[in-house]
Amino acid sequence: MTLPDSARLIQQAMGEAFPTAEERVARFYKMQEYHLGWRDERLEPAAADPGKLIRPQLVLLACQAAGGDPRQALPLAAGVQLLHDFTLIHDDIEDNSATRRGRPTVWSIWGLAQGINVGDGMFVIAHLAIHRLAEAGVPAERALRVLRRFDEIILQVCEGQYLDLSYEGDLTITPEDYLAMIGRKTAALIAGSCELGALVAGATPDTAAALADFGRSMGLAFQIEDDLLGIWGLPEVTGKPAAADLYRRKVSLPVVHALATSADRATLARLYTQSEMDDEAVRAALVILDAAGSRAYCAGVAAGHHSAAFAALDRLGLGETPESTAARARLRALAESLIGRQS
Ligand code: IPE
Ligand code: IPE
Ligand code: MG
Ligand code: MG
Repeated sequence: MTLPDSARLIQQAMGEAFPTAEERVARFYKMQEYHLGWRDERLEPAAADPGKLIRPQLVLLACQAAGGDPRQALPLAAGVQLLHDFTLIHDDIEDNSATRRGRPTVWSIWGLAQGINVGDGMFVIAHLAIHRLAEAGVPAERALRVLRRFDEIILQVCEGQYLDLSYEGDLTITPEDYLAMIGRKTAALIAGSCELGALVAGATPDTAAALADFGRSMGLAFQIEDDLLGIWGLPEVTGKPAAADLYRRKVSLPVVHALATSADRATLARLYTQSEMDDEAVRAALVILDAAGSRAYCAGVAAGHHSAAFAALDRLGLGETPESTAARARLRALAESLIGRQS
């Protein structure tokens, strides 16, 4: 399966999980398709940015790396991406974000109440996608195990979102608190994509654990890089507004670092405790973060997690078949391509 092929097949499998809608409720599903990039704001068919599709690609590659047939894992890949998209629809409400993937967010067009409900629908369709594993030839008992682990992982994501929201504006957050938060809100699903892909293949516990470790380290690096983009990313490349995490008073890693090390930490703390971060406060915070070297510090921490991810892959060694060996190489290439990403 080549990369463009897998992007098409993943989205096709996502579409197949949607029910046939009665006319009366067709708009409900079309709003979900808007978020996925398949429709425009008028809900006409479109081909907008569907996201990087990293998690479903990890599912397929992990399955193949563990000796399985990636085509059998397509319903899982679809379910994982739909679940990720559900978290984004709700995350944009929770973070008050009006822009995602370069377009207005669902809630900002159709309101908070419909936004919540559109997300709920996508949560369920993610599960319906995974129920199709049995139809793809995965033994029912294995499919049930995948579904249970999937739900355990989703709960970790919700725990992470809980921590993220409760940390907003809290200046007592330590690097350990931060790691506990991103380990749940982001790394859990990226680790889970690898672990569940391996489960579909019927992998040994060692193989599944090594792939999960790879995903967890990659997920930690991924979120730290998202934090860098949330402050210094270019809106035209990220598709998200500039310095959004500062406006939202997120205690992301650059801020944790500056609060612990900057000579101006008192000023940063004062800015972060005022009722709202306006443009002037954000500009002042940026100066403090730059002077504290927080950007380079975070890039270094992310690099450490990337190295741990590669070490986990090394534990896997070579696969037993040419296909599994090739998939292991592609997992490495995918992780390498994310180092210092701009979007
Ligand atoms: C965004 O994830 C949310 C995080 C967990 C950082 P992605 O950067 O994978 O988002 P898309 O799907 O490619 O837009
Ligand atoms: C990422 O949240 C985690 C989830 C969506 C579960 P963020 O709030 O850090 O991600 P972006 O920056 O909005 O994509
Ligand atoms: Mg968030
Ligand atoms: Mg957000």
